Amino acid sequence: MQSNTLSLKIKLFRDKKSSEINYLYKKKDPSERPMVLDVLLQAQEESVDDLSFRYGCRARNCGVCTVDINGKPRLACRARAKDNDVISPLATLPVVKDLIVKRDNISRQLIGFNNIASKNNLNVEADKTYHNLTACIECYACLDGCPLHKKNKPVEKDNNNAYPFGNPFSFLKLQRLYIDPLTPEEEKLGIIEKAKSLGLETYRRDYKNLKIKCGVGINLKEEVIKPLLNAAYGDQIEKKNK
Ligand code: FES
Repeated sequence: MQSNTLSLKIKLFRDKKSSEINYLYKKKDPSERPMVLDVLLQAQEESVDDLSFRYGCRARNCGVCTVDINGKPRLACRARAKDNDVISPLATLPVVKDLIVKRDNISRQLIGFNNIASKNNLNVEADKTYHNLTACIECYACLDGCPLHKKNKPVEKDNNNAYPFGNPFSFLKLQRLYIDPLTPEEEKLGIIEKAKSLGLETYRRDYKNLKIKCGVGINLKEEVIKPLLNAAYGDQIEKKNK
């Protein structure tokens, strides 16, 4: 028989202290299969009225609702809640409050590297890979398991320059610029140098834990990391393999 409730744990972080609540989600009817975001919204309405979390589109478009569910990053608006699920903030970024993490330091890595945005004509002639990369919703789930992002320890909330090392998201943005037909040839060298300065080389030895496909279906190894490694170190790799 289907139950009318789901029992979940929500981990909260406030004032540098962590705590957790056991929350019993009340289904609207026994057949309901709520998303984790539905659970958070009900918990906020009925139990913890200042529970903090982010959401926007509720349709896998904006990427801001990402939380860890049982230790793995998921979009809360798209993940079905199950009995005994544990919901916590993304482990890869510093917590601001409850389930809200500080996101802006990641994009700060790329300040000054989108000089061509004003010339954008939507690139209807660009190849398929370019358009695949525009599908990134910036959910930051790809930080999980990244050997480079792990080096950014300690993750400091108040230091805007706390992330000297890159991650699949940053490299995706650089690769998209690199293959953008509007990027002048003379700027491509700067893009590769930026990728190198963020530690791209680490992936030559260690990217086995990197997610292959992200949540919106971008193949991070084939469409982002491999082509960047090829552009940055293609000669050396070929020589090594001879
Ligand atoms: S709320 Fe926009 S992706 Fe989940």
